[in-house]
Amino acid sequence: MTPIPPPEDQSLRHHSFDGIQEFDRRLPNWWMVLLFGSILFWMVYWAYFEWFRVGLTGSQTVEREMEHIEAARLASAPTTDNASLWAMSRNHVFVEAGRATYATTCVSCHGDKLQGGIGPNLVDRLWIHGGNPTDLYATLDKGVLAKGMPAWVPVIGAKKSAEVVAFLLSHHAEGEPIEVQAAWIPILPK
Ligand code: HEC
Repeated sequence: MTPIPPPEDQSLRHHSFDGIQEFDRRLPNWWMVLLFGSILFWMVYWAYFEWFRVGLTGSQTVEREMEHIEAARLASAPTTDNASLWAMSRNHVFVEAGRATYATTCVSCHGDKLQGGIGPNLVDRLWIHGGNPTDLYATLDKGVLAKGMPAWVPVIGAKKSAEVVAFLLSHHAEGEPIEVQAAWIPILPK
């Protein structure tokens, strides 16, 4: 508590309520520090979590962790059946890894938006070799050598192949109609 000042410092404020008057004194420093400190804290906190959304909220942190755990579980037994590949396509960790592989290995022929080029469009519902996850994986495994699609699984390995299939599937919805395309006419760069 701030001690009562000596009589010579006891200047009074000009108002009086029911005959009660106040000393005219500065608020104590600890009080000012608390007030402005909490205002500053509020601004930094709000900017971090709400305005710029740099910080993850508690539930987002949990979701991220669960994705990592799920990714580790899927990677420990990399099965390439339809259900596992769909599950991988919903896992952020897998999809990001697949995106990186796509950017280095597939983009030159299939386009930066998967829109097609030398190789077919991979975001539409038309598929030459089948649109189920296992079909995509099989195309990657064997390639279509006569048409210029290399066999990738032997080159990049099963894990990276599963990741890149997960990345392709992340552009599709499970159960969407699959249409058969007879052939792809390459769009050659001008
Ligand atoms: C050198 C060019 C080239 C590269 C690189 C390439 N592809 Fe292809 N891809 C093709 C061509 C050409 C076809 C079409 C084959 C056909 O006409 O039967 C194709 C077909 C496919 C298909 C089947 C599409 C369908 O409609 O059935 C998938 C899936 C695919 N590629 C995925 C990939 C992935 C994933 C990568 C990267 C790991 C990749 N491709 C890299 C040229 C390429």
